[in-house]
Amino acid sequence: MKKAFITGITGQDGSYLAELLLEKGYKVYGFVRRVALEDTEHRMSRIKHLFGNDRLELVSGSLESYPSVYKAIAKVRPDEVYHLAAQSFVSYSFEDEFSTLQSNISGSHYILSAVNDIVPKAKFYFAASSEMFGKVCEVPQNEQTRFHPRSVYGISKSAGFDLTRNYREAYDLFACSGILYNHESPRRGFEFVTRKITSHVAMIKQGLKDTLALGNLEAQRDWGHAKDYVRAMWMMLQQDKPDDYVVCTGETHSVRKFCEKAFSHVGLDYQKHVIVDEKFYRPAEVDILLGDYAKAKKVLGWEPEISFDELVTSMVDHDIEYLTNKNKATL
Ligand code: GDD
Repeated sequence: MKKAFITGITGQDGSYLAELLLEKGYKVYGFVRRVALEDTEHRMSRIKHLFGNDRLELVSGSLESYPSVYKAIAKVRPDEVYHLAAQSFVSYSFEDEFSTLQSNISGSHYILSAVNDIVPKAKFYFAASSEMFGKVCEVPQNEQTRFHPRSVYGISKSAGFDLTRNYREAYDLFACSGILYNHESPRRGFEFVTRKITSHVAMIKQGLKDTLALGNLEAQRDWGHAKDYVRAMWMMLQQDKPDDYVVCTGETHSVRKFCEKAFSHVGLDYQKHVIVDEKFYRPAEVDILLGDYAKAKKVLGWEPEISFDELVTSMVDHDIEYLTNKNKATL
């Protein structure tokens, strides 16, 4: 039985990836912090439904400690490693540059080094990001496009991308990076703009709130569904040769357009509820992201299956359902 090791298993992508790998018959090991194990109700909410599966095991440790990463890899001896864990909220990276750089870069370095030392034949996936393109020098972007990150988060992902490529070139590790564009789902964290919008649509629809304060409405993003994107991660590791791939939808929409669609899905006019608050503007913005997934299509045979409309409506429907039937206090 193939063994997969996932960092960031409790997050949106980790949870969808764990489901996919369990379906494919893998034994899945999730690397989680001890605090998460002590607070399963809250921190494990995205993977709780998988707990009955005896092919899922959680290994406690911290990406901030090399010995802890080393011990976990030595214990599991995985065939495939998916390194998804990171401080992934761009806004926060402006507030705490140092911890974002420290945890994202060192965490990636520790795990690459441990994998290379202990299981050099394992296949490694690094969650790179379209934030590396930042102030884009061309539209659409592809694997050849020059990076110009606009945040410490983007810089940390560029460093992780370079580290991954260097382990591939210097040590022959089967190491791949997925340059993933924004990907969302009903499991998205509430701090990201899509979920912030859909959760507020639900609250406004129920009369629990009246306004939604946002920052830059004109920013454009190539938004896909996380479920489609974890499939691409797995496909990268099933190839004969390691490589890097852009994963996106090839469509871009503004934050304003996302609002318009989300509100109109439940018969509301976003203009009556959305207000702009400058505190949500970033010191340096990424104005437009639009990717070209031709390489992933050609080499991996990957294509996105869930449309922008389905993404928006499924998130709104989920949040309405959540608010109606579940725990009102946590929304
Ligand atoms: N979060 C947030 N909150 N964003 C806002 C808001 C707001 O109130 N108002 C406008 N925005 C704009 C941001 O300025 C940005 O241009 C856009 O909405 C998207 O913001 P996020 O949803 O926070 O995502 P992101 O694009 O910064 O980063 C996401 O995608 C990357 C891939 O491109 C994250 O998932 C990263 O981890 C990921 O690497």
